[in-house]
Amino acid sequence: MQDAQPKTTYLKDYRVPDYLVDSTDLCFELEPKATLVKSRLKIRRNPEAEEGIPPLLLDGIDLELLSIAIDGTMLSPADYQELPQGLSIIVEKPDFLLEIHNRINPEDNTSLEGLYLSNGMYCTQCEAEGFRKITFYPDRPDVMSKFTTTIVAPIDHPVLLSNGNEVDRGYIEDGRQFVTWEDPFAKPAYLFALVAGDLQHVDDTFTTSSGREVKLQIFTEAKNIGKCDHAMRSLKSAMHWDEEVYGREYDLDIFMVVAVDHFNMGAMENKGLNIFNSACVLASPETATDSAFQRIESIVGHEYFHNWSGNRVTCRDWFQLSLKEGFTVFRDAEFSADLNSRAVKRIEDVTLLRTNQFAEDAGPMAHPIRPDSYMEISNFYTLTVYEKGAEVVRMIHTLLGADGFRKGSDLYFERHDGCAVTCEDFIVAMEDANQVDLTQFRRWYSQAGTPVLDVTDQFDESTGVYRFVIRQSCPPIPEQKDKLPFHIPLTVGLLDSTGSDIALDKAGSTQLVLEITESEQMFEFNGLNEKPLPSLLRSFSAPVKVRYDYSLEQLLFLMSHDSDTFNRWDASQRLAFKAMNLLQGAYQEGLTLKLSPELILAYRNILLDKELDPALVAEIMLLPSEHSIAEESVSIDAEAIVAARAFARKSLSCALIDELKERYAELDIERPYSPNAKDIAERRLKNICLEYLCITESADALDLAQRQFDSAGNMTDRAAALSALINYGNDQYAEQAIHQFYDRWKEDTQVTELWLAQQACSAKRGTLNNIKALMQHPAFELKNPNKVRAVIGGFANRNFQQFHKNDGSGFEFVADQVIALDKLNPQIASRVVIPITRWKKYQGDLADKMKAALLRVSNSGELSKDVYEVVSKSLMN
Ligand code: BES
Ligand code: ZN
Repeated sequence: MQDAQPKTTYLKDYRVPDYLVDSTDLCFELEPKATLVKSRLKIRRNPEAEEGIPPLLLDGIDLELLSIAIDGTMLSPADYQELPQGLSIIVEKPDFLLEIHNRINPEDNTSLEGLYLSNGMYCTQCEAEGFRKITFYPDRPDVMSKFTTTIVAPIDHPVLLSNGNEVDRGYIEDGRQFVTWEDPFAKPAYLFALVAGDLQHVDDTFTTSSGREVKLQIFTEAKNIGKCDHAMRSLKSAMHWDEEVYGREYDLDIFMVVAVDHFNMGAMENKGLNIFNSACVLASPETATDSAFQRIESIVGHEYFHNWSGNRVTCRDWFQLSLKEGFTVFRDAEFSADLNSRAVKRIEDVTLLRTNQFAEDAGPMAHPIRPDSYMEISNFYTLTVYEKGAEVVRMIHTLLGADGFRKGSDLYFERHDGCAVTCEDFIVAMEDANQVDLTQFRRWYSQAGTPVLDVTDQFDESTGVYRFVIRQSCPPIPEQKDKLPFHIPLTVGLLDSTGSDIALDKAGSTQLVLEITESEQMFEFNGLNEKPLPSLLRSFSAPVKVRYDYSLEQLLFLMSHDSDTFNRWDASQRLAFKAMNLLQGAYQEGLTLKLSPELILAYRNILLDKELDPALVAEIMLLPSEHSIAEESVSIDAEAIVAARAFARKSLSCALIDELKERYAELDIERPYSPNAKDIAERRLKNICLEYLCITESADALDLAQRQFDSAGNMTDRAAALSALINYGNDQYAEQAIHQFYDRWKEDTQVTELWLAQQACSAKRGTLNNIKALMQHPAFELKNPNKVRAVIGGFANRNFQQFHKNDGSGFEFVADQVIALDKLNPQIASRVVIPITRWKKYQGDLADKMKAALLRVSNSGELSKDVYEVVSKSLMN
């Protein structure tokens, strides 16, 4: 907990470390309430630092200091000073051995940072600044050291793991056991990991392209040992993919993954010992949905890919976070796209970006992908740093081409292997390998906000010349008023009146990357015999908003003809937003709502189009979520959004009932479960048909849902049926399904999380009273982030209607939870508060009520710096 005003750290103040740590030798004697940590650090003056021998500053939080010795001599209290955030030690020579003993309390550590206990198992989480909760250390990523770790534990914790290779093990006279690990690669402390518990493991091997055999192990509690196969398969695919696409081999003889139930994030790339949130690694067809299978594949890939983009080459400081995260998200997205459907993956990622990252970029916490200041770095593991960061890397890929990008990444890895570097170093490697100048492109790293491209066009029949005029702008934010134009790759195609792509150059290319660099720019195409229809920002070639005044007919035409699958879907989104706007307007004016027959016909054609990938049909049928409609609004009228979307869905379900039944029946295929792209697409469309059918609340439809619920052969179908029963029809059946489901699955943590989330997300079940009751259920635990995300996160982020109730009760509830959570787990509290920080975007009354809830958090007493930063920035000016 923190004083009133935590201090801000600035990128411009970066200084190299005064001291380096050549080796770090750790010994842990594990006890739940009193773990002893002994560290031996070989320390040396950094030759790059200024002259002199300044005091050695070490970070340390919540540590009980027992002793300090330098070169074997115990220090007396006069030789050092204990500070609120660490230690300052007087030093007399440039090289020395520092030995520190301290005690920590893993059992009472509810922040899940540092060393903590999860279901009786010890584990660590050190990124970003968690190592300082283990021992006194220069806890910054540009201090890289070779680690040796000895773990001493009672024999009821037989599995003792740390980074690198096991080099020793044995028993101690008192009945305890020890294991020693040595990591040959120098690493920053944030990549340190330790695990100790009663765990089982699944083993496999991978032979690298140069013929080395790597042992692969996934560790979990015995009851979950049957749920590791998919993660193991994913790991092997990822290892193979990184060799094929980036020429990167794994470097240790062993790669371990551990599943833990209490985890703040999804997973962590600790060297040779990745630690995963159980939900992001464990799966079986009976217990996990298709989206869980896909998430596991991409997260296993992501953490594995960090071994090069993050571990071998790491960040100099935390302002450079996007260097490893943006690049690695780009790598995992390409991995998933190569293994599954590229278009569907792109649609999912862009939906996340537009709905949530655009909102962040327009909200009180807006920051560039390389922030220039922070109070608490944990608050900057954001969609901007991750998803927009990945889009920025993707734009470099688009500008340089696949081969140019590969040359750049080869040079980057070669130049900086074993070093802690900056985003600038990444760009320079890309430039040097390709002899290009990315000076203007660098603005993507320093300017926040979502750029807007206003596109107008004109066709001159007499000359056959077609022109685009493109204006770029970027809304100001408080810290950045005047922004300079970005360098934007805009991929375009032109369609003729038959829907075919027009050749755009002599080589016959059907699409071009226009490089936008000015605030206003014109592009010309010659030799056309009719006015073409532009297909803009194909595959979403830049994280921008494109405004072009498409008519309804043009959008329908693009939807059925664009050769770019992503843009076919995008046309459907533009169409849907137009329709939602009209409905919202009608609702606000008290008029009767009506969906145009042309639109219904368009959706009918899509639904029946057997040529179209069912995944794409599914994405189109879904309609934009309430949140993405809100993001599109200048000022959010929550009630009108709910009414508009509900009306559109109801109209479609009534108008297309026969077609929905037909497609459902046709896709209701019995087959062994496999999470491949085709089967996933078919299940998804089938379950969307089921949902639409249930919107009508007809007995037929609800019977269908009940039947699917009872007989489903996998969790995807069962969960979809449960959702239909929860959201539509008779309350009594809903209640019954909820109980039955819980009884059947209550022993399974992941299924229970899904069960909690479905209730919390339901417009019907997830009323505030039900949410509060759910929090009293034995399945809920405030100290477990997954349960918090399921219930409180589900309610605030995915239950638009109940959360935005006019009386403001949803906001007050979130404020209460933030206040309670902040005492247990500040990182989770500062995530939970986000939905009530965007009050400025709401209309009148809701804005006032949201702000009031936020003020109450702000005035609730001592806040962690995590929550303080988010809340204070949201209440500013
Ligand atoms: N390095 C992060 C995990 C992390 C960051 C843990 C900060 C704790 C604090 C990891 O590589 C990561 O980015 N994980 C993501 C998943 C990924 C697929 C985007 C996560 O945990 O959400
Ligand atoms: Zn990551």
